[in-house]
Order: sequence, then C-alpha cells, then structure tokens
Amino acid sequence: MNQIEQEISRRRTFAIISHPDAGKTTLTEKFLLYGGAINLAGSVKGKATARHAVSDWMEIEKERGISVTSSVLQFEYDGYCINILDTPGHQDFSEDTYRTLMAADSAVMVIDGAKGVEPQTRKLFKVCGMRGIPIFTFINKMDRDANDTFDLLDEIEKELGIATCPVNWPIGSGKAFRGVYERETRTIHCFSDTEKGTKEGTDKVLPIDDAALVSAEIGQDAFDTLQEEIELLDGASAEFDLARVQAGQLTPVFFGSALTNFGVEVFLQHFLKMTQTPLPRESDQGIVDPASREFSAFVFKIQANMNKAHRDRVAFMRICSGKYDASMEVRHVQGGKVMRLSQPQQIMADSRKILDEAYAGDIIGVFDPGIFSIGDTLCMPKEEFRYAGIPTFAPEHFARVKQLDTMKRKQFVKGITQIAQEGAIQIFKELDTGLEEIIVGVVGVLQFEVLKYRLENEYNVEIRMEPLPYEHIRWIENENPDLNRLVGTSDMKKVTDLRERPLLLFINPWSVQMVLDRNEGLVLSEFGR
Ligand code: G4P
Repeated sequence: MNQIEQEISRRRTFAIISHPDAGKTTLTEKFLLYGGAINLAGSVKGKATARHAVSDWMEIEKERGISVTSSVLQFEYDGYCINILDTPGHQDFSEDTYRTLMAADSAVMVIDGAKGVEPQTRKLFKVCGMRGIPIFTFINKMDRDANDTFDLLDEIEKELGIATCPVNWPIGSGKAFRGVYERETRTIHCFSDTEKGTKEGTDKVLPIDDAALVSAEIGQDAFDTLQEEIELLDGASAEFDLARVQAGQLTPVFFGSALTNFGVEVFLQHFLKMTQTPLPRESDQGIVDPASREFSAFVFKIQANMNKAHRDRVAFMRICSGKYDASMEVRHVQGGKVMRLSQPQQIMADSRKILDEAYAGDIIGVFDPGIFSIGDTLCMPKEEFRYAGIPTFAPEHFARVKQLDTMKRKQFVKGITQIAQEGAIQIFKELDTGLEEIIVGVVGVLQFEVLKYRLENEYNVEIRMEPLPYEHIRWIENENPDLNRLVGTSDMKKVTDLRERPLLLFINPWSVQMVLDRNEGLVLSEFGR
C-alpha cells in the first residue's frame, strides 16, 4: 500500500442521526473526548454558557434551541481518522440532512431507551435507507428507566424495517442498571458512572461463566433475568452478518449511557471494525474507486455567512478519491474552469484550520465566491466527469415574497438568490404575469423564518411574505416544452426555477393527473435533477 492508500484506508466518515434530545450531542462529545480532539467534552455544548457553542452558527438557532446547520468534526482514534457529520435534528431540515447523508459512508442512529423510535428518527432513517448505507444503533440513556429491551428491538424492526442484532445486552436500566453483557466475548461490563467530562473510569469486566463472581457483582435477581434473556435472545435474534450490515439490511445494536460515559468507547471500537473505508461512488463515467483515482470531490453543502465578521460563504465538499493538496489546481466541472481552491480548510466545529492536504473520505470547506452549487464535481484538470447529482426535494409550502423598500431591490434579489443557491430555499419566477415578485418554496415552514431573519440581518432588507395555497410541484421533463400550448387547470401556476427550468405548481393533488391527461406526451417529475 502506498501512502495515499494507507491514509484513505484509515478513514471512516459517518453521519450521526437522532430525534432531538436522544443524546446525539452528548455521544459526539464523548467520541471527541476519546479521540483527544478536545479536552473537555462539555465544551461542545456547554448548556449553561452557550447552548450551541460549537456546532451551530446562527442566532436563530440559539434563540430556538435547535440545530439548523450541520457541522463536521474530525478526530483521530486508535490509528483511525474519523469524520463525523452532524445532522440537524429538526424536522424542517430534512433536505439539508439528506445532502449531509450523501456525504457519509454510514450512519449512527441514537435512540433514547425510554422513548424508542421517534418521528425524526423514522424520517432520517428513511433517507439512510434510500442510500442503502450501513446503520449502527446506539440505544442511549440506559441509566434512566428504559423500555423493555425486546420491545425496543421489535419496534426498530417493525417501524424501520431493518433486522437488528444486539452486540451487547443491557442488565436492567435506571437505578437498577448494572452494565451490559457482551455476546461475542461472553463478558459482563459493569456499569460505573464515570465522572462527567473525563474518560477515566473503572471498567470492570467479568466472564459470565463465573456465576459466583457475576451474581456477587450484579445481584442474583439481575443475573437470573439476564440468563433468561440471553437464552431468549440467542434463539430469536438475527445472526451477525457483516455483509448484511454493510448492505444496510441489518443494524448492530449497542446499549449504553452517553452521559455517564458508559458503553461509548466499546461502541466506537466495534463500530470502527465493522464500518468501511471510504466507499466508491457513482459518476457518469462509471464507479470511481477512492484509492485508484486521483483527486475528485463533490459539493454537498453550501453555507453562507458562517462568520459574520467575514461575510463569507463556504462550500463543503466530500473528497471521493485520491489526495488533495493545497498547492494543486483542480477542475470545477460544472463551472468549466481550472482553478486553485481558495483557503481550503477543515472545519473543526467553529474553529477552522487551513489545511495542506486531505484524502478521500475527508470533508473540506473552501471559500466560495459564489461559483459553486450543490452537487458540483471537482476533479483533476486533465479529467472531466460528474458525480451523480443530489436531487432537489419538492417544496411543500409556497409564499410570494416582496421587499418593503423598493429602493432595495438589488440587495433583495442578491440575498434571496444566494440563499437559494445554498439550497436552503427554492425560488421561482412567475411566467406570463410580468410581475417582479418572487415565489419561494420550502420543504419545512421554519425556512420561511430563516429566510426573513437572514434577509434582515445579513442583507438589511425587510420583506413581506404572502402565503400561497400551492402544495404540489412538478418539473416539466420534456425538452423545450411549449408552455403556451399547455392545457392546465384553474388551480395551476406556471413558473421557472433558478436554472430557468419550467415547472408547474398545483393546489389540488388530482390536478396533476388531469394535466397529464390533457397534454399527451407531457412528462412531469417530482424531483428537480
Ligand atoms: P441531542 O443532541 O440528541 O438533542 O441530545 P443531547 O446530547 O443534547 O442530550 C439531551 C439531554 O439528554 C441532555 O440533557 C443530556 O444531558 C441528556 N442525556 C444525554 N445522554 C444521556 C444519558 O446517557 N443519560 C441521561 N440520563 N441523560 C442523557 P438536558 O437536560 O437537555 O441538558 P443538561 O442541562 O443536562 O446538559
């Protein structure tokens, strides 16, 4: 293996998903603590001081206490170089989350043991399923009273449609939590409430076959229950099968308590063994193997004004193959230009480090003067290929937006266009009417507020928004369609998107079919590709 192959093979890039409050942030903090990336876990989200000190950037998030943007963290552990992609947990941001998942090779799903599968977990899981990436489950908060373990597994299987294979098994929960039983090694890891913020702790491990020792440690009742449960489990659970895990059909399940630091390092160790090195990706020239090709990457996220003092815009890209070094020139395929990336940085939460080199699997952020769009490919100057695009989600809410001060038209158009290029909103222009107003479409209504807030704070433009009743959107797939001849319905509106593609908005779902019936050969699509 040469040096580049070696670097790539030690990389692991995963997204962490959960319903808000299940413990995603706490678990991430503990990972970082083991990796030595930061000194005190609490500093990721020291709630008393600044609730979202590191992973969030915008004021609105602090006010609402939710995570709108996603962040990237990198740390070293046991010879591995680990990239964690944090996903926003709020239901309104599924599109952003989807893009983030496009950049990951696997996902860690955190579930609150007392709550089981929650709506947001379900949604995020569906997105993982669409990509067929491996999913690892961490059932958290076992130091609190949790649901019955078999019921929890059953719920995951039924609700999410994935087989489960517990790697370890909890011994009680809440006040009666005694630790976990590791099935492979047949050992019991005794629970200890590790002092918060440190990784020191006593990890007492006992062989289950030493009945006297075990029952003395966890109590006879707990031991009896454990033995019964293991017997049941061995008969009922799916066999561990790495190939099925890697195909996203079987999820290994771990139990622990992120807050007390219990089960976290064991989880990390198993996870790193089971998860894969950066995966090959599909392009218009076939599958690209990370190690056998020179540098290539795709843009999966654009974030503006991360640092107010600088008014900058950062394009996040996932390196898909080879090695990137800061001195080299790359081709921006969609822009048709060969260029040097500007200020390539590794975004370690809110602190940034200018980097000299990075490898397939890594995420880099580069300064974007407004040239990149989501889904763009970068490769070596001598090459030219495109990674499969990231589809645009169909917006479900629409509003007509107008600036209040007519003198500020220029700032308004600039602001709203930039925010649309980032993918936070989609903007449309009305056809036929000659009106200068812009129609905004969003996946979740909170994005309207984000838009208003950002236009006011970053572009100094006040706006008025008038909700529109449209709920269904269809892109017209035909080449050069004659929109004047299109026979529509009374509730239909013709618009164009940012890339001048024609599309139709409908109030009623049945109108879509009616328009298809009335216009032979018309092809409509729910996704803007
Ligand atoms: P999130 O990122 O998924 O939204 O969850 P986060 O880690 O912020 O955790 C949500 C709450 O759950 C926090 O409490 C956190 O301390 C708690 N928590 C996380 N893991 C565990 C665990 O293993 N056991 C127990 N008992 N609690 C856990 P909070 O009250 O919101 O914040 P704080 O004031 O306690 O810090």
